[in-house]
Amino acid sequence: MSTAVASKSRVETVPLWVFGASGMLGGELLRLLETHPAFAPTAVSRKITSLADAQPHVRSQVALSNVDDAERALGRALERGPAALALSLPHGESGELFARLRTTLGSRLDNLTVVDLAADFRLADPALYRATYGHAHPCVDELASFAYGLPEFHRARIAASKRTAAAGCFATALQLAVVPAARAGILDEHMPWILHGVTGSSGSGAEPKPGTHHPYRHANLWAYSLDGHRHEAELAQALEPAHAKLHFVAHSGPFARGIHLTCALPLAKSLSTSEAHALYAAAFADEPFVEVVETGVPDLRRVVGSNRAALGLNVRGDVLTVLCTLDNLVKGGAGQALQCLNLMFGFPETWGLPRSGLGVV
Ligand SMILES: NC(=O)c1ccc[n+]([C@@H]2O[C@H](COP(=O)([O-])OP(=O)(O)OC[C@H]3O[C@@H](n4cnc5c(N)ncnc54)[C@H](OP(=O)(O)O)[C@@H]3O)[C@@H](O)[C@H]2O)c1
Repeated sequence: MSTAVASKSRVETVPLWVFGASGMLGGELLRLLETHPAFAPTAVSRKITSLADAQPHVRSQVALSNVDDAERALGRALERGPAALALSLPHGESGELFARLRTTLGSRLDNLTVVDLAADFRLADPALYRATYGHAHPCVDELASFAYGLPEFHRARIAASKRTAAAGCFATALQLAVVPAARAGILDEHMPWILHGVTGSSGSGAEPKPGTHHPYRHANLWAYSLDGHRHEAELAQALEPAHAKLHFVAHSGPFARGIHLTCALPLAKSLSTSEAHALYAAAFADEPFVEVVETGVPDLRRVVGSNRAALGLNVRGDVLTVLCTLDNLVKGGAGQALQCLNLMFGFPETWGLPRSGLGVV
């Protein structure tokens, strides 16, 4: 499927166009790609004329293209062989772009591998997409062609696919924290599952907004989406059987990167903290990017800058508390997308992805 094969000593490069290069995740993906041995990125932007100005932290020599030139170059590249596309665009925009490319590329689409970092192909049900995002889905007939991009639960489907919708940032933390207990059948289905998440300001994108403006954000904390956060739909989709009483409340926190999630899950049967720990440790035993912490609690410092999610567990009475921290820009965003690209191309899953955090944030 790909021109670059992990076991070969000489790796042929695969061209990768990163749309949304001026954005938070666009910049993060270009940073991660600096150490990737196989992808040769081109940054694509509607508006910027200098990557060095827009993303000064990216020091590798990355070509910059406007959208029209990129689409033409992509078409030519696909005539020669495989190519990849990362869509780091607002929801709605990535679905529209993909629909347009499908028309212009025709049969060349067969050579294209796509990862969407937006929400457009995450929810399988178009009616749920409309209810969640407030507009009709821009490319309904392609929904089924996208794998759901959370490797820990969908690795085989992603690896067999050429299109993946990387899971949302809160949605990743929510699923890693809740799904193992739900699958084990230890949770009370009649009680609400209370889920509280705090995110850093980079989760709101690169454009300054009142909610990300430093004087209001730097020493402040507030809840939002009290009537239901969009990422709850991704957790709901992951649960079989469905649970009708999910109660997720998101908060904006006074830091730039990171998500901290606290889940209070009612138990249907008695369980000790060590049994809960053993359950999660077994669920994620072979995962390179999920850590079940042995002692103490997972904090942001532990994971920020890395592609890891850290989980902490405690049982008090009949409530299981699951804590999860991750970096919204890495495991919750660009790192997850790169992990999915690695899987789709058959590369080692860890290529280009830091396991260590920054330590100081
Ligand atoms: N930030 C996070 O923590 C995070 C985590 C997971 C998923 N996501 C999702 O990933 C996507 C990108 O997130 P982000 O935080 O990188 O967003 P962002 O900072 O706002 O960047 C999005 C980029 O998309 C491009 N774009 C193209 N059409 C646009 C339009 N009509 N309006 C505005 N921008 C347009 C712009 O880049 P050019 O002008 O250079 O083309 C813009 O910089 C979003 O769908 C977001 O929901 C974000």
